[in-house]
Amino acid sequence: MATALELDPAKMESFAATFLDAMNGAATMLMSSIGHRTGLFDVMAEMPPATSEEIAFASGLNERYVREWLNALVAAKVIDYDRDERSYRLPPEHAALLTRAATPSNLASVAQWIAVLGYVETQVVDKFTHGGGVCYHEFHRFHDVMADESAQTTVAALLDHILPLVDGLTDKLEQGIDVLDIGCGSGQTLILLAERFPNSRFVGYDLCADAIVAGRSAIEDKDLPNLVLKVRDVSQLEERDRFDLVTAFDAIHDQAYPDKVLRNISGALRRDGIFLMQDIRASSYVEKNIDQPLGAFIYTISCMHCMSVSLAQGGMGLGAAWGEELAQEMLIGAGFAQVDIRQLEHDIMNNYYLARLG
Ligand SMILES: C[S@@+](CC[C@H](N)C(=O)[O-])C[C@H]1O[C@@H](n2cnc3c(N)ncnc32)[C@H](O)[C@@H]1O
Repeated sequence: MATALELDPAKMESFAATFLDAMNGAATMLMSSIGHRTGLFDVMAEMPPATSEEIAFASGLNERYVREWLNALVAAKVIDYDRDERSYRLPPEHAALLTRAATPSNLASVAQWIAVLGYVETQVVDKFTHGGGVCYHEFHRFHDVMADESAQTTVAALLDHILPLVDGLTDKLEQGIDVLDIGCGSGQTLILLAERFPNSRFVGYDLCADAIVAGRSAIEDKDLPNLVLKVRDVSQLEERDRFDLVTAFDAIHDQAYPDKVLRNISGALRRDGIFLMQDIRASSYVEKNIDQPLGAFIYTISCMHCMSVSLAQGGMGLGAAWGEELAQEMLIGAGFAQVDIRQLEHDIMNNYYLARLG
Protein backbone atom coordinates (compact mmCIF):
# COMPACT_ATOMS: atom_id res chain seq x y z
CA MET A 1 0.00 0.00 0.00
CA ALA A 2 1.21 3.55 -0.79
CA THR A 3 2.42 5.62 2.17
CA ALA A 4 0.92 9.07 2.85
CA LEU A 5 3.88 10.72 1.12
CA GLU A 6 3.24 8.80 -2.08
CA LEU A 7 -0.44 9.71 -2.31
CA ASP A 8 -1.39 11.80 -5.32
CA PRO A 9 -3.54 14.67 -3.91
CA ALA A 10 -5.10 15.46 -7.31
CA LYS A 11 -6.20 11.84 -7.64
CA MET A 12 -7.63 11.91 -4.11
CA GLU A 13 -9.52 15.11 -4.80
CA SER A 14 -10.92 13.78 -8.04
CA PHE A 15 -12.00 10.54 -6.32
CA ALA A 16 -13.66 12.50 -3.49
CA ALA A 17 -15.61 14.50 -6.07
CA THR A 18 -16.66 11.31 -7.88
CA PHE A 19 -17.77 9.79 -4.59
CA LEU A 20 -19.80 12.88 -3.62
CA ASP A 21 -21.49 12.75 -7.02
CA ALA A 22 -22.34 9.11 -6.37
CA MET A 23 -23.77 10.04 -2.96
CA ASN A 24 -26.02 12.66 -4.53
CA GLY A 25 -26.83 10.22 -7.34
CA ALA A 26 -27.99 7.57 -4.87
CA ALA A 27 -30.10 10.17 -3.04
CA THR A 28 -31.61 11.27 -6.36
CA MET A 29 -32.53 7.66 -7.14
CA LEU A 30 -34.38 7.29 -3.82
CA MET A 31 -36.28 10.53 -4.37
CA SER A 32 -37.02 9.55 -7.98
CA SER A 33 -38.36 6.20 -6.84
CA ILE A 34 -40.68 8.05 -4.45
CA GLY A 35 -41.65 10.43 -7.26
CA HIS A 36 -42.64 7.42 -9.34
CA ARG A 37 -44.50 5.54 -6.62
CA THR A 38 -46.46 8.54 -5.35
CA GLY A 39 -47.29 9.67 -8.88
CA LEU A 40 -45.70 13.08 -8.19
CA PHE A 41 -43.75 13.12 -11.45
CA ASP A 42 -46.94 12.29 -13.39
CA VAL A 43 -48.88 15.05 -11.64
CA MET A 44 -46.15 17.66 -12.13
CA ALA A 45 -45.78 16.79 -15.81
CA GLU A 46 -49.37 17.95 -16.31
CA MET A 47 -49.06 21.16 -14.27
CA PRO A 48 -47.75 24.64 -14.98
CA PRO A 49 -45.14 25.94 -12.49
CA ALA A 50 -46.75 25.55 -9.06
CA THR A 51 -46.10 25.99 -5.34
CA SER A 52 -45.56 23.04 -3.06
CA GLU A 53 -49.08 23.57 -1.68
CA GLU A 54 -50.59 23.39 -5.16
CA ILE A 55 -48.57 20.30 -6.07
CA ALA A 56 -49.49 18.60 -2.79
CA PHE A 57 -53.16 19.43 -3.36
CA ALA A 58 -53.13 18.18 -6.96
CA SER A 59 -51.48 14.93 -5.93
CA GLY A 60 -53.49 14.46 -2.71
CA LEU A 61 -50.27 14.18 -0.68
CA ASN A 62 -48.86 15.72 2.51
CA GLU A 63 -47.43 19.18 1.73
CA ARG A 64 -44.49 18.98 4.14
CA TYR A 65 -43.23 15.74 2.57
CA VAL A 66 -43.90 17.01 -0.93
CA ARG A 67 -41.89 20.18 -0.24
CA GLU A 68 -38.88 18.29 1.10
CA TRP A 69 -39.03 15.95 -1.90
CA LEU A 70 -39.26 18.93 -4.28
CA ASN A 71 -36.29 20.62 -2.64
CA ALA A 72 -34.18 17.45 -2.86
CA LEU A 73 -34.88 17.25 -6.57
CA VAL A 74 -34.28 20.98 -7.08
CA ALA A 75 -30.83 20.46 -5.55
CA ALA A 76 -30.40 17.44 -7.82
CA LYS A 77 -31.34 19.60 -10.85
CA VAL A 78 -34.25 17.36 -11.72
CA ILE A 79 -36.87 20.03 -10.90
CA ASP A 80 -36.59 23.78 -11.61
CA TYR A 81 -37.37 26.35 -8.90
CA ASP A 82 -38.43 29.98 -9.31
CA ARG A 83 -37.65 31.74 -6.03
CA ASP A 84 -39.75 34.85 -6.80
CA GLU A 85 -42.87 32.79 -7.46
CA ARG A 86 -41.89 30.01 -5.00
CA SER A 87 -42.87 27.72 -7.82
CA TYR A 88 -41.58 24.34 -8.95
CA ARG A 89 -41.61 22.94 -12.48
CA LEU A 90 -40.69 19.59 -13.96
CA PRO A 91 -39.12 20.53 -17.32
CA PRO A 92 -40.83 18.69 -20.19
CA GLU A 93 -37.48 17.18 -21.25
CA HIS A 94 -37.22 15.59 -17.80
CA ALA A 95 -40.89 14.60 -17.74
CA ALA A 96 -40.25 12.76 -21.01
CA LEU A 97 -37.95 10.42 -19.04
CA LEU A 98 -39.64 10.28 -15.64
CA THR A 99 -43.36 9.65 -16.08
CA ARG A 100 -45.64 6.70 -16.74
CA ALA A 101 -46.64 8.37 -20.00
CA ALA A 102 -42.96 8.13 -20.97
CA THR A 103 -42.98 4.30 -20.84
CA PRO A 104 -40.87 2.60 -22.22
CA SER A 105 -38.37 5.36 -21.39
CA ASN A 106 -39.41 5.93 -17.79
CA LEU A 107 -36.15 6.12 -15.84
CA ALA A 108 -37.96 6.83 -12.56
CA SER A 109 -39.33 3.31 -12.66
CA VAL A 110 -35.80 1.89 -12.81
CA ALA A 111 -34.82 4.06 -9.82
CA GLN A 112 -36.99 1.81 -7.63
CA TRP A 113 -34.25 -0.85 -7.67
CA ILE A 114 -32.05 1.14 -5.30
CA ALA A 115 -34.76 1.03 -2.60
CA VAL A 116 -35.54 -2.64 -3.28
CA LEU A 117 -31.88 -3.54 -2.76
CA GLY A 118 -31.48 -1.27 0.27
CA TYR A 119 -34.29 -3.18 1.98
CA VAL A 120 -32.11 -6.33 2.27
CA GLU A 121 -28.80 -4.64 3.09
CA THR A 122 -28.62 -6.01 6.64
CA GLN A 123 -29.28 -9.56 5.47
CA VAL A 124 -26.64 -9.23 2.75
CA VAL A 125 -24.08 -7.85 5.22
CA ASP A 126 -24.69 -10.93 7.37
CA LYS A 127 -24.00 -13.21 4.38
CA PHE A 128 -20.58 -11.58 3.90
CA THR A 129 -19.67 -13.17 7.26
CA HIS A 130 -21.66 -16.37 7.21
CA GLY A 131 -22.17 -17.12 3.51
CA GLY A 132 -25.50 -18.32 2.14
CA GLY A 133 -27.99 -16.00 0.52
CA VAL A 134 -31.18 -13.95 0.81
CA CYS A 135 -34.41 -15.72 -0.16
CA TYR A 136 -36.90 -14.25 -2.62
CA HIS A 137 -39.50 -13.81 0.14
CA GLU A 138 -37.16 -11.52 2.14
CA PHE A 139 -37.28 -8.87 -0.60
CA HIS A 140 -39.97 -6.23 -0.59
CA ARG A 141 -41.70 -5.37 -3.89
CA PHE A 142 -39.20 -7.35 -5.98
CA HIS A 143 -41.82 -8.79 -8.34
CA ASP A 144 -43.67 -5.44 -8.67
CA VAL A 145 -40.51 -3.61 -9.66
CA MET A 146 -39.44 -6.45 -11.93
CA ALA A 147 -42.81 -6.26 -13.67
CA ASP A 148 -42.40 -2.48 -14.07
CA GLU A 149 -38.97 -3.00 -15.60
CA SER A 150 -39.99 -5.75 -17.97
CA ALA A 151 -43.01 -3.71 -19.09
CA GLN A 152 -40.42 -1.28 -20.44
CA THR A 153 -37.55 -3.45 -21.62
CA THR A 154 -39.41 -6.56 -22.75
CA VAL A 155 -43.16 -6.15 -23.18
CA ALA A 156 -42.95 -2.81 -25.02
CA ALA A 157 -40.35 -4.19 -27.44
CA LEU A 158 -41.64 -7.74 -27.76
CA LEU A 159 -43.67 -7.67 -30.97
CA ASP A 160 -41.66 -5.16 -32.96
CA HIS A 161 -38.10 -5.86 -31.88
CA ILE A 162 -37.63 -9.08 -29.90
CA LEU A 163 -39.72 -11.59 -31.89
CA PRO A 164 -38.26 -10.40 -35.23
CA LEU A 165 -34.81 -11.46 -33.97
CA VAL A 166 -35.88 -14.98 -34.94
CA ASP A 167 -36.62 -15.36 -38.65
CA GLY A 168 -40.19 -16.53 -39.27
CA LEU A 169 -41.13 -16.65 -35.58
CA THR A 170 -44.04 -14.22 -35.82
CA ASP A 171 -45.53 -16.28 -38.68
CA LYS A 172 -45.18 -19.50 -36.68
CA LEU A 173 -46.87 -17.87 -33.70
CA GLU A 174 -49.70 -16.78 -35.99
CA GLN A 175 -50.11 -20.34 -37.25
CA GLY A 176 -49.97 -21.92 -33.77
CA ILE A 177 -47.03 -23.28 -31.77
CA ASP A 178 -46.29 -24.36 -28.19
CA VAL A 179 -44.42 -21.83 -26.06
CA LEU A 180 -42.92 -22.06 -22.58
CA ASP A 181 -41.63 -19.06 -20.59
CA ILE A 182 -39.13 -19.95 -17.85
CA GLY A 183 -39.22 -17.79 -14.71
CA CYS A 184 -42.19 -15.89 -16.14
CA GLY A 185 -42.66 -13.65 -13.07
CA SER A 186 -46.15 -12.18 -13.25
CA GLY A 187 -46.46 -13.33 -16.86
CA GLN A 188 -46.79 -9.98 -18.62
CA THR A 189 -44.87 -11.16 -21.67
CA LEU A 190 -47.02 -14.25 -22.04
CA ILE A 191 -50.22 -12.30 -21.55
CA LEU A 192 -49.33 -10.06 -24.48
CA LEU A 193 -48.35 -13.06 -26.63
CA ALA A 194 -51.46 -15.04 -25.74
CA GLU A 195 -53.65 -12.07 -26.67
CA ARG A 196 -51.82 -11.38 -29.91
CA PHE A 197 -51.46 -15.03 -31.06
CA PRO A 198 -54.67 -16.90 -30.19
CA ASN A 199 -53.66 -19.97 -32.26
CA SER A 200 -50.56 -20.60 -30.13
CA ARG A 201 -50.48 -22.16 -26.67
CA PHE A 202 -48.51 -20.55 -23.84
CA VAL A 203 -47.26 -21.91 -20.52
CA GLY A 204 -45.43 -19.86 -17.87
CA TYR A 205 -43.64 -21.31 -14.86
CA ASP A 206 -42.29 -19.40 -11.91
CA LEU A 207 -40.94 -20.47 -8.56
CA CYS A 208 -42.61 -17.65 -6.63
CA ALA A 209 -46.30 -18.03 -5.84
CA ASP A 210 -46.80 -14.27 -5.34
CA ALA A 211 -45.64 -13.58 -8.92
CA ILE A 212 -48.01 -16.21 -10.33
CA VAL A 213 -50.90 -14.93 -8.19
CA ALA A 214 -50.30 -11.42 -9.61
CA GLY A 215 -50.23 -12.84 -13.15
CA ARG A 216 -53.42 -14.84 -12.64
CA SER A 217 -55.25 -11.85 -11.24
CA ALA A 218 -54.14 -9.80 -14.28
CA ILE A 219 -55.86 -12.31 -16.60
CA GLU A 220 -58.95 -12.85 -14.49
CA ASP A 221 -61.08 -10.64 -16.73
CA LYS A 222 -59.47 -11.74 -19.97
CA ASP A 223 -60.58 -14.63 -22.07
CA LEU A 224 -57.27 -16.44 -22.57
CA PRO A 225 -57.83 -20.20 -22.79
CA ASN A 226 -54.40 -20.50 -24.50
CA LEU A 227 -52.45 -19.35 -21.42
CA VAL A 228 -51.49 -21.29 -18.28
CA LEU A 229 -49.44 -19.75 -15.44
CA LYS A 230 -48.15 -22.14 -12.79
CA VAL A 231 -45.92 -22.18 -9.74
CA ARG A 232 -43.20 -24.57 -10.73
CA ASP A 233 -39.48 -25.07 -10.16
CA VAL A 234 -37.96 -25.29 -13.64
CA SER A 235 -34.97 -27.21 -12.33
CA GLN A 236 -37.51 -30.06 -11.99
CA LEU A 237 -38.96 -29.65 -15.49
CA GLU A 238 -39.94 -33.01 -16.90
CA GLU A 239 -41.50 -32.12 -20.25
CA ARG A 240 -39.66 -33.60 -23.25
CA ASP A 241 -40.00 -32.63 -26.98
CA ARG A 242 -42.98 -30.54 -26.03
CA PHE A 243 -42.28 -26.90 -27.04
CA ASP A 244 -41.40 -25.07 -30.26
CA LEU A 245 -40.22 -21.99 -28.44
CA VAL A 246 -38.83 -21.59 -24.93
CA THR A 247 -38.16 -18.09 -23.64
CA ALA A 248 -36.35 -16.87 -20.54
CA PHE A 249 -36.39 -13.16 -19.87
CA ASP A 250 -33.73 -12.28 -17.33
CA ALA A 251 -34.36 -15.61 -15.62
CA ILE A 252 -31.32 -17.86 -16.09
CA HIS A 253 -28.45 -16.18 -14.26
CA ASP A 254 -30.29 -16.13 -10.92
CA GLN A 255 -31.23 -19.80 -11.06
CA ALA A 256 -29.93 -22.04 -8.29
CA TYR A 257 -28.99 -24.68 -10.88
CA PRO A 258 -28.71 -22.89 -14.23
CA ASP A 259 -26.81 -25.82 -15.80
CA LYS A 260 -29.66 -28.17 -14.97
CA VAL A 261 -32.29 -25.66 -16.11
CA LEU A 262 -30.55 -25.15 -19.46
CA ARG A 263 -30.41 -28.94 -19.96
CA ASN A 264 -34.11 -29.16 -19.10
CA ILE A 265 -34.85 -26.46 -21.65
CA SER A 266 -32.94 -28.20 -24.44
CA GLY A 267 -34.80 -31.41 -23.54
CA ALA A 268 -38.19 -29.70 -23.53
CA LEU A 269 -37.68 -28.26 -27.01
CA ARG A 270 -38.76 -30.01 -30.18
CA ARG A 271 -35.89 -30.76 -32.54
CA ASP A 272 -36.45 -27.65 -34.69
CA GLY A 273 -37.36 -25.48 -31.73
CA ILE A 274 -35.57 -22.42 -30.46
CA PHE A 275 -34.58 -21.08 -27.08
CA LEU A 276 -34.73 -17.29 -26.85
CA MET A 277 -32.82 -16.14 -23.78
CA GLN A 278 -32.66 -12.50 -22.76
CA ASP A 279 -29.88 -12.10 -20.23
CA ILE A 280 -27.54 -9.43 -18.91
CA ARG A 281 -25.20 -7.85 -21.46
CA ALA A 282 -21.83 -8.34 -19.87
CA SER A 283 -18.57 -10.20 -20.26
CA SER A 284 -17.57 -13.00 -17.91
CA TYR A 285 -14.43 -10.94 -17.22
CA VAL A 286 -14.70 -7.88 -14.98
CA GLU A 287 -12.00 -6.00 -16.88
CA LYS A 288 -14.21 -6.07 -19.96
CA ASN A 289 -17.20 -4.70 -18.05
CA ILE A 290 -15.60 -1.45 -16.91
CA ASP A 291 -17.08 0.39 -19.89
CA GLN A 292 -20.50 -1.28 -19.63
CA PRO A 293 -22.66 1.81 -18.94
CA LEU A 294 -24.49 -0.03 -16.15
CA GLY A 295 -21.52 -2.07 -14.87
CA ALA A 296 -21.62 -0.97 -11.22
CA PHE A 297 -25.39 -1.38 -11.12
CA ILE A 298 -25.24 -4.89 -12.65
CA TYR A 299 -22.67 -6.16 -10.13
CA THR A 300 -24.59 -4.49 -7.28
CA ILE A 301 -27.96 -5.99 -8.16
CA SER A 302 -26.15 -9.28 -8.59
CA CYS A 303 -24.47 -9.15 -5.18
CA MET A 304 -27.65 -8.14 -3.39
CA HIS A 305 -30.18 -10.15 -5.39
CA CYS A 306 -29.33 -12.38 -8.38
CA MET A 307 -26.31 -14.15 -6.88
CA SER A 308 -27.79 -14.08 -3.42
CA VAL A 309 -31.17 -15.68 -4.24
CA SER A 310 -29.31 -18.50 -5.99
CA LEU A 311 -26.95 -19.05 -3.02
CA ALA A 312 -29.96 -19.00 -0.66
CA GLN A 313 -31.15 -22.19 -2.40
CA GLY A 314 -27.72 -23.82 -2.10
CA GLY A 315 -27.18 -22.95 -5.76
CA MET A 316 -24.24 -21.95 -7.97
CA GLY A 317 -24.60 -18.18 -7.43
CA LEU A 318 -23.60 -17.43 -11.02
CA GLY A 319 -24.38 -13.74 -10.69
CA ALA A 320 -25.86 -11.31 -13.20
CA ALA A 321 -22.49 -10.74 -14.88
CA TRP A 322 -21.94 -14.43 -15.66
CA GLY A 323 -21.27 -12.97 -19.09
CA GLU A 324 -21.56 -14.02 -22.68
CA GLU A 325 -18.46 -16.23 -22.70
CA LEU A 326 -19.79 -18.47 -19.91
CA ALA A 327 -23.38 -18.25 -21.16
CA GLN A 328 -22.31 -19.56 -24.54
CA GLU A 329 -20.24 -22.35 -22.97
CA MET A 330 -23.14 -23.41 -20.74
CA LEU A 331 -25.65 -23.35 -23.59
CA ILE A 332 -23.41 -25.60 -25.68
CA GLY A 333 -22.85 -27.82 -22.61
CA ALA A 334 -26.63 -28.11 -22.23
CA GLY A 335 -26.98 -29.58 -25.72
CA PHE A 336 -27.47 -26.56 -27.97
CA ALA A 337 -25.53 -26.80 -31.22
CA GLN A 338 -25.80 -23.20 -32.32
CA VAL A 339 -25.88 -19.97 -30.31
CA ASP A 340 -26.25 -16.50 -31.85
CA ILE A 341 -25.87 -13.46 -29.63
CA ARG A 342 -27.85 -10.41 -30.68
CA GLN A 343 -28.38 -6.95 -29.22
CA LEU A 344 -31.19 -4.44 -29.48
CA GLU A 345 -30.64 -0.71 -29.56
CA HIS A 346 -33.29 0.09 -26.96
CA ASP A 347 -31.87 -2.33 -24.41
CA ILE A 348 -28.37 -1.56 -23.10
CA MET A 349 -28.85 -4.00 -20.22
CA ASN A 350 -29.36 -7.26 -22.12
CA ASN A 351 -28.12 -9.62 -24.79
CA TYR A 352 -30.51 -11.82 -26.74
CA TYR A 353 -29.28 -15.39 -27.20
CA LEU A 354 -30.85 -17.51 -29.92
CA ALA A 355 -30.00 -21.13 -29.20
CA ARG A 356 -30.88 -24.03 -31.50
CA LEU A 357 -30.45 -27.77 -31.14
CA GLY A 358 -29.36 -28.48 -34.69
C1 LIG B 1 -35.33 -11.51 -12.63
S1 LIG B 1 -36.87 -12.28 -12.54
C2 LIG B 1 -37.54 -12.14 -14.18
C3 LIG B 1 -39.04 -12.35 -14.24
C4 LIG B 1 -39.67 -12.19 -15.62
N1 LIG B 1 -39.13 -13.11 -16.58
C5 LIG B 1 -39.54 -10.78 -16.13
O1 LIG B 1 -38.78 -10.52 -17.07
O2 LIG B 1 -40.20 -9.90 -15.54
C6 LIG B 1 -36.43 -14.00 -12.46
C7 LIG B 1 -37.61 -14.88 -12.20
O3 LIG B 1 -37.19 -16.26 -12.24
C8 LIG B 1 -37.90 -16.95 -11.25
N2 LIG B 1 -37.16 -18.18 -10.91
C9 LIG B 1 -35.96 -18.30 -10.33
N3 LIG B 1 -35.63 -19.60 -10.18
C10 LIG B 1 -36.66 -20.33 -10.69
C11 LIG B 1 -36.92 -21.72 -10.83
N4 LIG B 1 -36.04 -22.64 -10.41
N5 LIG B 1 -38.09 -22.11 -11.39
C12 LIG B 1 -38.99 -21.18 -11.82
N6 LIG B 1 -38.78 -19.85 -11.71
C13 LIG B 1 -37.63 -19.42 -11.17
C14 LIG B 1 -37.99 -15.95 -10.11
O4 LIG B 1 -39.03 -16.25 -9.21
C15 LIG B 1 -38.23 -14.64 -10.85
O5 LIG B 1 -39.60 -14.36 -11.01
